[in-house]
Amino acid sequence: NTIKPTIILVFGATGDLAKRKLFPAFYNLYLDGRMPEKFEIIALGRAKNSDAIYRSHVSDNLTEFSRNKIASKKEFEQFASHITYLQNDIDKEESYLLMKQKLDAIDSSFGERANRLFYLSIAPSFIETISNNIKKLNLAANPDQDRIIIEKPFGYDKNSAELLNKLLSKTFDEEQIYRIDHYLGKETVQNILAFRFGNSMFEPLWNRNFIDSVQITVAEEVGVEDRGGFYEGAGALRDMIQNHLMQILTMVAMEAPTSLQADEIRNRKADVLKAIRRIKPEEVKHYTVRGQYEKALVKGKTISGYLQEKGVDENSNTETFVAMKFYLDNWRWQGVPFYVRTGKRMQEKQSSIVIQFKPVPHSTFSFGKEGMMPNRLIINIQPAMDIRLQFMTKKPGLSLSLKPAEMVFDYFSCSTQSPEAYETLVLDALQGDPTLFMRSDQVEEAWDVVTTIQEAWENDQSLSLHKYEAGGWGPEAANELLARQGHSWASNTLNEEVEKI
Ligand code: BG6
Repeated sequence: NTIKPTIILVFGATGDLAKRKLFPAFYNLYLDGRMPEKFEIIALGRAKNSDAIYRSHVSDNLTEFSRNKIASKKEFEQFASHITYLQNDIDKEESYLLMKQKLDAIDSSFGERANRLFYLSIAPSFIETISNNIKKLNLAANPDQDRIIIEKPFGYDKNSAELLNKLLSKTFDEEQIYRIDHYLGKETVQNILAFRFGNSMFEPLWNRNFIDSVQITVAEEVGVEDRGGFYEGAGALRDMIQNHLMQILTMVAMEAPTSLQADEIRNRKADVLKAIRRIKPEEVKHYTVRGQYEKALVKGKTISGYLQEKGVDENSNTETFVAMKFYLDNWRWQGVPFYVRTGKRMQEKQSSIVIQFKPVPHSTFSFGKEGMMPNRLIINIQPAMDIRLQFMTKKPGLSLSLKPAEMVFDYFSCSTQSPEAYETLVLDALQGDPTLFMRSDQVEEAWDVVTTIQEAWENDQSLSLHKYEAGGWGPEAANELLARQGHSWASNTLNEEVEKI
């Protein structure tokens, strides 16, 4: 393990993300022998805690959330001996002085200046104060060694994202800033690049001459849970489309990078974001559908509507569902619609990409083109993790009739366990590899695309918010969006499609 000695400072160490994702990621990396040989984790939080109490919380949380459970007390204690808790008041300079003392003490125990990884798992409103204090005390003064990870939401709209980038640039070089989008750490999302650029047979077809349309779905079965207060100021466009869905879109649409060098990949992705056709305010209604879930009986249980959720205004106009259409103005994708949709309280959790190829130009068969299903390549991201190639084949028997079939590659056929997204991303940050993190220009371009839409929704009362029943696939208007161009949302498995034919 060649990672230099590192001190990880977790701001918001008593928060939900730290509990569910970060400490499990540290622990699993530790078990895999991927943590640096010398490392310390400083857990920072407002509450008073001793090291012992904090470590016992970590133990509880690992039991609940980690993919590898604690096998022995001794093993856990070895891991936990790297964790210390430091009470921290983000607004007080003394807190940063204590932090500095602690960092210096660890450096001297290591016998060298360790790398520093500042992990900001806190509300965005605290970023400025933390960043300014880090600068004031020179805590991240070595660009080759010191890094900061920023969680989403990164900004609120284009303007605020630019301001945030400017603010961070006072303390950090761009190379030091790791803006996380956890979708990019998912195994199956990374596999998009492997699949596209590790094979030669699909690439010649990967363009407007052969591809009819692309669909990206990220559906969630859960509602807003206990995040109503946060979600009210966000909505599905900001929470999901601006980041996760647009990042997936860039991976489907990008040109082939010449190498895996971080900026090469990020440049190719930024090219896609630049090519996304900007929707004018008056076009918003033709390109987007927004919805909000309503109370419904789902699998025998009454599920509350969004307006009844805790922390939500009873007249809220915040959308919990978005379906929209993108066009890319470049040679490869001219005229190909990219339909994306995301929603909470949908029928099932499902993230998938459907690449639909053009129909056959002429039907040789007596039943005409209606009986034919277009070829599709489906990439299931989660919870199913597979790639499906769907095509027509002869039905066994004496007559010549056809039926759709599919070839399936199941990701788990080559591995039983895959690392969690946060493990991949934390490891990359420890190693100083920013490939899977968003660069400032990517974030700003993505905000540029969605800000016009957000503003149109807020300003134009005629753009309706469609109610949809919890437990379904969103409002009918989302189907109409596709039907206008002769398309429909495809299922991510063959069986349901066959029933439709
Ligand atoms: C987060 C959003 O970024 O992604 C949440 O803020 C959403 O609202 C979550 O639930 C979905 O992530 P995953 O990995 O469960 O698909």
